[in-house]
Amino acid sequence: MIELKGLNKTYCSKQGDYHALKNISLKVAKGEIYGIIGRSGAGKSSLVRCVNLLERPDTGEVIVDGANLLELNAEALREKRHSIGMIFQHFNLLNSRTIYDNIALPLELIGITKPYIAKRVNALLELTGLSAHKNHYPAQLSGGQKQRVAIARALATSPKVLLSDEATSSLDPETTQSILSLLKQINRELNLTILLITHEMDVIKSICDRAGILDKGELIEEAPVLELFARPKSLVAKNFTQSALHIKLPDNLSRRLQLEATAGSRPIVKLTFLGANAEQPIMVSLLTKFNVTTNILQANLEMIHNSTVGITICELLGNPGAIEHSIEFIRSQNVEVEVLGYVN
Ligand SMILES: Nc1ncnc2c1ncn2[C@@H]1O[C@H](COP(=O)(O)OP(=O)(O)O)[C@@H](O)[C@H]1O
Ligand SMILES: [Mg+2]
Repeated sequence: MIELKGLNKTYCSKQGDYHALKNISLKVAKGEIYGIIGRSGAGKSSLVRCVNLLERPDTGEVIVDGANLLELNAEALREKRHSIGMIFQHFNLLNSRTIYDNIALPLELIGITKPYIAKRVNALLELTGLSAHKNHYPAQLSGGQKQRVAIARALATSPKVLLSDEATSSLDPETTQSILSLLKQINRELNLTILLITHEMDVIKSICDRAGILDKGELIEEAPVLELFARPKSLVAKNFTQSALHIKLPDNLSRRLQLEATAGSRPIVKLTFLGANAEQPIMVSLLTKFNVTTNILQANLEMIHNSTVGITICELLGNPGAIEHSIEFIRSQNVEVEVLGYVN
């Protein structure tokens, strides 16, 4: 439904040129929720703005629903944009218009008749749970309600694609969850394709099918979300997934942790595995095969897309050669192992 090929974007200013997007290629399938995560300044907004050509890339192709947007004339592009809705962090509602009139606006702009507008807007008010507020003004609504209005407005022209740029970033955690549930619901019910930009891994974890990591303008890693949590490759991916797994070394241990092994020190490792029951057999094998004992310091189970990801932080006790072999063995069992450090 969305395909980006070799996208580059440079901003030119008096201070010099800034290469904000570097050779980005990605595909989002119809009905998929694809997340882009990156730190502030990574190029996320630039990327999402290239998908509806609010920003024109220097080179590359932007294909949405079969059409290469860069080849369309102004008229055809305007038409095509009706099939691409967008929501933003700060909602961008018109404060002088009622909720009803905000949602009606995109339909008025394309000359839809009043009776049809009424039917459509009322259905959208219903879908987003805002019927009671139709005659209110944005200032009378909470942040979550304002974002619901923005979602209803984005859906007015029945788009096939919804672009979301940090849509939950100024909402509290509970409201964030309710907006994410709404996005998931419309994704399912309308088979809407969603490209969602965020700097929060919890958002990716909640609703995305796949995600890409944008770092300094480059798409450095891309995977199904479960895979990203179970086997993050880059350091940036590891840091993001870590932040959403809510597992941390106990303070007294992290104070004692050394980066290098010394005589008699024991490694502290973090194991990440798929499936709730995967942990037990591996630990038994370490003992029987290598005479290595595992001392569990922290353990946590997370549900991601109906699968369990287990994270265990443990100390490995045994002779140094055997410990090395046991780490190789764990890796051979498709379990992610990270040596966090050593303690004496
Ligand atoms: N219109 C612009 N002119 C010049 N530089 C810009 C412009 N928009 C964004 N940038 C720069 O491009 C980089 C990426 O910005 P942006 O896409 O907004 O990142 P993100 O959304 O990930 O925070 C930043 O360093 C930003 O300062
Ligand atoms: Mg941004």
